[in-house]
Amino acid sequence: MFRHIEAFAGDPILTLNEQFVADPRPAKINLSIGVYLNDEQRIPLMGAVAAAEKQLAQSFHPHPYLPMAGSPAYREQSRKLVFGGANAERIATIQTLGGSGALKVGADFLKAWFPQARVWVSDPTWDNHKGIFGGAGFEVKTYPYYSPATHGVAFDAMLDQLRGLPAGDVVVLHACCHNPTGADLNPQQWRELALVVQERSLLPFFDIAYQGFGGGIEEDAFAIRHFAEQNIPLLVASSYSKNFAIYGERCGALHVTCKDAGETAKVLGQLQSAVRKNYSSPPGYGARVIGAVLQDAQLRAQWEQELTAMRVRMKHIRSALHAELQARLPGGDFEYLRIQQGMFSFTGLPVEQIRKLRDEHGVYLIDSGRMCLAALSNAGVAPVAQAMVQVMTE
Ligand code: LMR
Repeated sequence: MFRHIEAFAGDPILTLNEQFVADPRPAKINLSIGVYLNDEQRIPLMGAVAAAEKQLAQSFHPHPYLPMAGSPAYREQSRKLVFGGANAERIATIQTLGGSGALKVGADFLKAWFPQARVWVSDPTWDNHKGIFGGAGFEVKTYPYYSPATHGVAFDAMLDQLRGLPAGDVVVLHACCHNPTGADLNPQQWRELALVVQERSLLPFFDIAYQGFGGGIEEDAFAIRHFAEQNIPLLVASSYSKNFAIYGERCGALHVTCKDAGETAKVLGQLQSAVRKNYSSPPGYGARVIGAVLQDAQLRAQWEQELTAMRVRMKHIRSALHAELQARLPGGDFEYLRIQQGMFSFTGLPVEQIRKLRDEHGVYLIDSGRMCLAALSNAGVAPVAQAMVQVMTE
């Protein structure tokens, strides 16, 4: 029956992570998957999360099905976190299985109602964008994004490409901390991009998986809020995996901004329909925890403080690795570590050097050259720099 089934080629991120786990070398270092580790190399249990879990454990609660759209309190808090307080009646929000679930439900919704659209993703982008939108039946194309020369955004080339697109095409945008490059648009560039999107009647689909890891909770939502203020219809996939360190609970949300309350109700209904066809309804536990933190002033303040500490640590690791590399290879260009922000930087190392790093030094980066700085400890800075310099110079 299954003889014709082809072997899975593996996922460039998740399969590599499994290889890392199976690697017996004690000094191995995993900078591949986008997971934040503390200096003890553990996924932190945030204090605010632990406190909310303790409160929940003390009160009896059964495990009913959640509604198709998810927990109402979680949905409200999620909308506020991304959009601020504005326009509640014009935003259809559902709880989803992480950011990936939000992208998938959003993609199914778009395919049902905009079947002719094409989907444009940045070059490069998170590998699974192509998988999710392609899997939903879309033709997926790329727009220029990264400039190796400046380690920043190739903004003019990006705008030129987007200016030529037909109305109704979907443009996937990383709201902050671009994955995999760490190169973001500045506020002025977002404003210019909003004008082009509006002129061309494009449909932006923002992915915000790292809110709070770039400039701060409010700063990282700038692009989405600005587009929404211009009354540009848009979708947002948001995730709590990273900023709550709650990866395995699969907590995210999908938001669609609409014209009025009537349109919002219809869109919400169709999102519910897409959820029902995928997995019926989302799981309850993580949403309860996040809802409890975001609704309680004290826990929320604690969470924000802990999130700030994570952001500061990532910046510190960036500077430390930059200094270490510069000291070991003064002629090298490691400025990208300081320019880029969030969990990731794009090293620009060719794939042969990435493989050598992995095979000969036990330092895991994904083949594109993306490095997850959020997983690097202070103790790991010197060995990683030493390995990088060795593969770059031999
Ligand atoms: C990543 O980019 O490494 C993370 O978002 C994990 C994933 O699902 O790929």
